[in-house]
Amino acid sequence: MSVESKLPSGDDLLAEIDRLRKEKNAIILAHYYQKSEIQDLADYVGDSLQLSQKAAETDADVIAFCGVKFMADTAKILSPEKIVVLPDMDAGCSLEDSCPPDKFKAFREAHPDHIALTYINCSTEVKALSDVIVTSSSAETILQQIPEDQKIIFGPDRHLGGYLSRKFNREMLLWPGVCIVHEAFSETELIKLKEEHPDAPIAAHPECPPTIVDHADFVGSTSGILNFAKEFEGDTLIVATEPHIIHQMEKALPEKNFIGAPGADGNCNCNICPYMALNTMEKLYTCLRDLEPRIEIEESLRLQAKKSLDKMLEMASGTVGKGDLGNR
Ligand code: 13P
Ligand code: SF4
Repeated sequence: MSVESKLPSGDDLLAEIDRLRKEKNAIILAHYYQKSEIQDLADYVGDSLQLSQKAAETDADVIAFCGVKFMADTAKILSPEKIVVLPDMDAGCSLEDSCPPDKFKAFREAHPDHIALTYINCSTEVKALSDVIVTSSSAETILQQIPEDQKIIFGPDRHLGGYLSRKFNREMLLWPGVCIVHEAFSETELIKLKEEHPDAPIAAHPECPPTIVDHADFVGSTSGILNFAKEFEGDTLIVATEPHIIHQMEKALPEKNFIGAPGADGNCNCNICPYMALNTMEKLYTCLRDLEPRIEIEESLRLQAKKSLDKMLEMASGTVGKGDLGNR
């Protein structure tokens, strides 16, 4: 018999996950891009900033992180005394992959008068080399607290960086990384879809390229898009981000119509994040049962990375004074 076939299934699997969650005093955190069945059983579903905040404040002994590795790493950096498990350790991120720490370090050293404002979608090593971390929901608030004359490196997402740069008329040196998921939306197909639904607004994540963002009525993080979906007038919304978030929209507003923006073949399936999709209910069960795979981070690296994350948490709530930005 294979290992898979020994696992509980259906309602038994749900009951077993619930039993283990109580037995281990675990909290299950899930990102909006997770499969709907994982979102439905999570203790908390949120965007990257909200999930970091939850990880920092929880009194659970175990955090089962249903998201990608940089998110689980962030939970461990902020809550080192907790056991943090990730259902599939291969759940990475193309943005993290685009930014090797040695190359990022060399880039920083080539621009010593710049601070590094860095998107949370990066490795712990890159966080340790950064001054302030941002998420898509906190980036605007944080950027506005940085003095006008302070030069900035923004990495690893050139589309989020470019969007911020255009919106705030602020020059920044951009690291050339992209999210493969948001990069896959097609402007041609989006225009065709809009012609079919001329009254439907478009909500887009800032990880999308300008060819998509320029058509959007609303640009924001996953939680921002979700709030927009709850408030827009009309009956149809076109959603240009990973389509699993539509589950929350359909739950909140079953009478409305949410359409995922299309990829080049007109089929939005190419916009499913392949990394997020690695997490399954079965793997969530085994990681709660075995408390493996577990996130471990060397202590001096963790402490260095925590500085730029703490800055984010402080600045996201507007409590840091201008000029207090260096991490090194
Ligand atoms: P937010 O949930 O912070 O908007 O981030 C989206 C994302 O790409 C997560 O990987
Ligand atoms: Fe990374 Fe993009 Fe997947 Fe988010 S959606 S985890 S940015 S690859």
